[in-house]
Amino acid sequence: MTGILKVDSQRLTVHDLSDIENRSDAVDGQDVIEGLSSQPKFLPPKYFYDQRGSQLFDQICELPEYYPTRTETAILKEFGGAIAQTTGPCEIVELGSGSATKTRFLLNAYQSAGHPLRYLPIDVSETALVESSKQLLLEYSALTIHGLISTYEPALAKLPAAQLPARMICFIGSTIGNLQPHEYSAFLDRMARSLRPKDYFLLGIDLQKEVSVLEAAYNDSRGITAAFNLNMLRHLNYRFDGDFDVDCFAHVACYNQESHQIEMHLESLKAQTVQLKALGLTVRFASGERLLSEISRKFDLEKTAQTLAARHLPVVTTFTDQNRWFGLLLCQRSPDRC
Ligand code: AVJ
Repeated sequence: MTGILKVDSQRLTVHDLSDIENRSDAVDGQDVIEGLSSQPKFLPPKYFYDQRGSQLFDQICELPEYYPTRTETAILKEFGGAIAQTTGPCEIVELGSGSATKTRFLLNAYQSAGHPLRYLPIDVSETALVESSKQLLLEYSALTIHGLISTYEPALAKLPAAQLPARMICFIGSTIGNLQPHEYSAFLDRMARSLRPKDYFLLGIDLQKEVSVLEAAYNDSRGITAAFNLNMLRHLNYRFDGDFDVDCFAHVACYNQESHQIEMHLESLKAQTVQLKALGLTVRFASGERLLSEISRKFDLEKTAQTLAARHLPVVTTFTDQNRWFGLLLCQRSPDRC
């Protein structure tokens, strides 16, 4: 196994792959340079998640307006048993595991089914990953964990050999909605290649619905989503020796009905110049100029199932809530090669 070994006890191993990523990535922060030099400007959503960002995201998940987490959790709670029964004993890999709150419902189901418990969380935030793993070990005495501090691509390329008969890679929370359509197709191909025939892919997707419900979820009355969005600038300041004045930007989120996506922006409140010294970058903002910090696509259940089938990931079972607000798709890698 490659990567710096961060923790190694009997039941917990954590590897840090972020170094390997940076070496292959010409310069760390290349994506920031590219995004801030584009017109219109954009930044990759992964920069939301430093320690504070991960905490703010956990707070978002508890907001009354933010229905996705609550809805998906209820689906997992109700159908976790059916998932465990379908897959049989299998390792649970999770992309973007964060605090692993929802994962507990899967682990509960596998535990009740009498299946062995092995979990491979993948996250860019070391604190979130190590803290949640230690907590899980206290809660599940039979559990073993192999964590990877990494973005998705390198982690999928370097997953340790499976120790159980099957593997299920979970990408829940509708994080897939952050991907642009071309990244989405490439990601599904990557997923199909990472799975052996008969392995499983569990995908959580937020579904298309009334605009007022969608917009409220990204413009909460307590301003937590605004703080989460603005924290990205703070994170960049810290990471790349920058001087973004967070008070001179505002949170904007609206639904684009043509592309079926929430678009989250940081709007410059005045004409200003920002420097990121570690990247040798000077960026000018016009007053009112918007930087796209995230898209959150909203999906159609049937169309998504068709796309997955076309990518060698046919859906075995679709789980949803009564409102059809959120979908959880259990897919199984087909044996036919591309
Ligand atoms: C973690 C990407 C699923 O798109 O809803 C929440 C992130 N952004 N509020 C989403 C988010 C603003 C979230 N995902």
